[in-house]
Amino acid sequence: MKIEKIFNVKNKIIVITGGSGLLGRTVSKSLNVNGAKVIVIDNKARKFNKGIDFYLCNLESVNEIKRTAEKIQKKYKSIDVLINNHQAKPLGFTKVDIESFDENLWDQIIDINLKATFFLCKYFGEFLKKNGGSIINFASTYGLVSSNKKIYKDNSLGNPVAYTASKGGVISLTKYLACYWAEHNIRVNCITPHGVWNKHEKEFEEKFIRLSPMRRMMKAEEILGLVFYLSSNASSYSTGSNFLVEGGWTAW
Ligand SMILES: NC(=O)c1ccc[n+]([C@@H]2O[C@H](COP(=O)([O-])OP(=O)(O)OC[C@H]3O[C@@H](n4cnc5c(N)ncnc54)[C@H](O)[C@@H]3O)[C@@H](O)[C@H]2O)c1
Repeated sequence: MKIEKIFNVKNKIIVITGGSGLLGRTVSKSLNVNGAKVIVIDNKARKFNKGIDFYLCNLESVNEIKRTAEKIQKKYKSIDVLINNHQAKPLGFTKVDIESFDENLWDQIIDINLKATFFLCKYFGEFLKKNGGSIINFASTYGLVSSNKKIYKDNSLGNPVAYTASKGGVISLTKYLACYWAEHNIRVNCITPHGVWNKHEKEFEEKFIRLSPMRRMMKAEEILGLVFYLSSNASSYSTGSNFLVEGGWTAW
């Protein structure tokens, strides 16, 4: 079989949350130019390629998620792929001290990263049952291992405990739903990226590189291989897995 056929996303209807963000834009544009019908859900509008559909939705609200899913179902009748790529970065996100970590910050991060991911799976899972399909949940290496305090010292970045807890939760949620929906031919998998370069402070980047086996940060487009694998029939026998694209970060 030709490789183009195996990784084909042509005419697939693909919903992506957080499509206005760093990885979301790269993923949406690439799926779109390769013939998928891309539907972005985000609370921030950005300029998109022609043909990409956009739904404004605050994922903190389960009601808004439900209404948005219903609108999309009404218009498209069914979908093939749901990509949960959103993440919360509320004010104070880089504050990492456990001692002063407050309830509100915890709730915002868990509600958007974990709770919204579940409710998106729940409402879109109903449509996916019709023909089967694929759910791709974005996790993080920080759902597998702790962030390393050393790389956030003396710079303005930081990775809070609630982020790690939420991404660990996304990986467990993925396994549960994969088993629950396997009989409906809905595959549920995670992509775990790490350290996507985004004009980071030199101070941070140097520390990061020292701890990375590949000695560099990730380029946004390096996410695409796994996105196309999991969005297409190439992954027809993969479910409940967590696919890493992290330059070996968790290998040592
Ligand atoms: N960038 C990295 O280095 C990295 C590393 C590991 C994992 N990840 C994961 O990859 C995914 C994409 O990361 P990114 O860096 O592109 O994210 P990003 O912060 O650039 O984009 C996140 C998107 O989510 C949207 N969003 C946030 N809160 C929302 C809400 N309440 N309602 C609707 N939309 C909301 C934002 O508007 C934004 O467009 C995330 O799940 C992230 O956790 C990223």
